[in-house]
Amino acid sequence: MIESVKTSWTLRGVEFKNRVFTASGTFGYGDEVRDLTDAGALGGVCTKSLSRKPRDGNPPSRIVETAGGMLNSIGLANIGVESFLRQKLPLLRELKTRIIANIAASSVEEYCEVLDMLEPESGISAYEINVSCPNVKEGGLNFGTNCRKTAEITSMLRSRTAKPLIIKLTPNVTHVSEFARAVEDAGADAVSLINTVIGMAVDVRSRKPRLSTVTGGLSGPAIKPIALAKVYETAQAVKIPIFGIGGIATVQDALEFLLVGAAAVQVGTMNFIDPNAAASIAAEMEDFFKLNGIADAQDFVGTLKADIGFSILQSWLSS
Ligand code: DHB
Repeated sequence: MIESVKTSWTLRGVEFKNRVFTASGTFGYGDEVRDLTDAGALGGVCTKSLSRKPRDGNPPSRIVETAGGMLNSIGLANIGVESFLRQKLPLLRELKTRIIANIAASSVEEYCEVLDMLEPESGISAYEINVSCPNVKEGGLNFGTNCRKTAEITSMLRSRTAKPLIIKLTPNVTHVSEFARAVEDAGADAVSLINTVIGMAVDVRSRKPRLSTVTGGLSGPAIKPIALAKVYETAQAVKIPIFGIGGIATVQDALEFLLVGAAAVQVGTMNFIDPNAAASIAAEMEDFFKLNGIADAQDFVGTLKADIGFSILQSWLSS
């Protein structure tokens, strides 16, 4: 047992107080949860994806519960960047945590426009770029499954900001590490993964798909093993920090992601069950480090004791 632990870390000169964040789309814009949890206990909050113009999103049904998970097809519904700046950002500035603005767009130009509008405003510490929404026709996975396009978006945005740039990657590709390497080369400061896994739910009585868009994005504990494998794969391939995301519900889950190489984690679907979950995980993580005599959380990151001689992933990646 030790008295104090260093939980803080920095990304491109921006200090985060700990390694537990809330994931985009699961915590509103960050302001709605003020009475439900102490955002000050978090490393940061990722906003709902912001687009240039307001979006209504997809028609209902757009959320379905599945075994150990949630399937959604929201379609990037959001109030648009102008309303965000007017209605949301003033409230977010009052939160005692870092705000990461998540940006979604259907063209390279739109990504740039949204970033340019956010850039002069105070209160935004970093950008997370959603190139991986599974539920829109334009942009979304068309970008996120195209390595060249993903790198192009990254370098265009890199030239427009000195703030940390985090690229959110999709698991719906064969080798996510190729994408991580491409965005690292294009100037990204970090990657976050995984976004949701494409899934489908069917109603036998009506013989219809349960989602209006037929397929959607699967999240929650059902995808944690996929996420761990993708983060592990990526950690072998890049030097930039990784935000691990995918089915994190407990401190145990969060620690598993740090072990396989994530520098930080984002809690997503669990926020719908308990909006205080991420704050609890942050506190419990600090306790874990104290109890185990780990003076700096960084000393725990990537310390998985894997005999890589037996890792199928390793041989597959190098083939
Ligand atoms: C949406 C966006 C995502 O990036 C995702 O993983 C799931 C849903 C959406 O707004 O539809």
